[in-house]
Amino acid sequence: MALSKAALHTASTQIVEIPLPAHRFQPLGPLTGRLRVPGDKSISHRSIMFGALAVGETRVTGLLEGEDVMATADAMRKMGATIEKRGETWHVHGVGVGGLLQPESPLDMGNSGTSTRLLMGLVASHAISATFIGDASLSKRPMGRVIEPLSQMGAGFEASEGGTLPLTMHGSVPAVPITYRLPVASAQVKSAVLLAGLNTPGITTVIEPVPTRDHSERMLRGFGAELEVEEANGERIIRIRGEAELKPQQVVVPGDPSSAAFFIVAALITEGSDLVIENVGLNPTRAGLIAVLRQMGGSIEELDRREVGGEPVADLRVRHSLLQGIAVDPAVAPSMIDEFPVLFVAAALAQGTTTTNGLDELRVKESDRLSAMAAALMLAGARVEEREDGLVIHGTGGDPLPGTSGEPVTTHLDHRIAMSMAVAGLASRAGVEVDDTSPIATSFPNFMTLLEAATA
Ligand code: S3P
Repeated sequence: MALSKAALHTASTQIVEIPLPAHRFQPLGPLTGRLRVPGDKSISHRSIMFGALAVGETRVTGLLEGEDVMATADAMRKMGATIEKRGETWHVHGVGVGGLLQPESPLDMGNSGTSTRLLMGLVASHAISATFIGDASLSKRPMGRVIEPLSQMGAGFEASEGGTLPLTMHGSVPAVPITYRLPVASAQVKSAVLLAGLNTPGITTVIEPVPTRDHSERMLRGFGAELEVEEANGERIIRIRGEAELKPQQVVVPGDPSSAAFFIVAALITEGSDLVIENVGLNPTRAGLIAVLRQMGGSIEELDRREVGGEPVADLRVRHSLLQGIAVDPAVAPSMIDEFPVLFVAAALAQGTTTTNGLDELRVKESDRLSAMAAALMLAGARVEEREDGLVIHGTGGDPLPGTSGEPVTTHLDHRIAMSMAVAGLASRAGVEVDDTSPIATSFPNFMTLLEAATA
């Protein structure tokens, strides 16, 4: 494995050189056989959080053991929960809603926006204070979107400039129930308000003009919360009754469609591929990529559709296909918000032009995913135009990309940029060098092993 260097300022302002795990992803040949991606990240976070708030023992199987979910588990331990793995099962002993303890040191959220924003919601209605810290990527991300509604509920905040981490917050008991219309389509903001509502007297209401992933709603109901969803005038109105009592559950986490996405696109763009990806979560609020790739002509077949842990899943058979460029309907964005980086790779190999717009949210993810993907794909030889709220990509018509020579592509601490460009490497002549593969461990620790196995 090649090593590149990054400079890091230590507390004593010394500069030390830390090697980053760079990697050149080569064109390896078709993807075949069967594989299973790790558990869904969103559901994994929530299973730990809700288990930690239930009284008694919650058992979780299929948990994603990535760094982001481990950050959630560490934080819940610091606030009183017991969380341990025995055999293949995670056992979570909760403290009860209202029972979170004062953490004695800062909560280190690493790279994880989901951990940060959902836990801010929990702390907001408990009589505790907490300091949130994170890595360089997370420390740039906007927290104002949760500070605003949680302040209305009574929580107090001291944030860094621009509403970022490090941030200290003080929960309020009793918190004030609010009705909040989401100004951005964000499941994290929705969930933060609903989780604050768990320990708030009365009814807390969130209005969603555009539906986003509904795992919090499904799982809170499963854990026994009184939660109603009403559809009115094209909006979703979600009401949760506070001072809830959560009952421990057995949670089976389905495979993560956002992780499956890399293998779906890899198989579609690599000649000769015929791959089955087992146990992929197909919640309609997450399945946008599959619909878009089918619209582009991708052969994706659902086998054995069933239910796992209250979520629809299927095995997906994916075969190499010549994709056609399309204009992607921006209305589909929330149901594939994390999949755009790898869709851009698919578009770079398609016939004709793919246009996307309405994707401002991509600029505030783990990196600015519009500029990071435009730069990375252009370095690999793709023809890309960056617009304010989307990319326009002129595909190769199925020919491989030239690949990178010289400079590696920059991942900006973003796991999805690293994995997307790994997939681009498969469909390139010279391979694609990625400067830092370490962020992959946040969401998909065995990505490299599965990629090697599928192309062996
Ligand atoms: C997530 C919501 C999405 C998504 C993130 C996980 C969640 O973020 O990008 O990876 O688990 O609620 P936003 O709420 O910021 O869209």
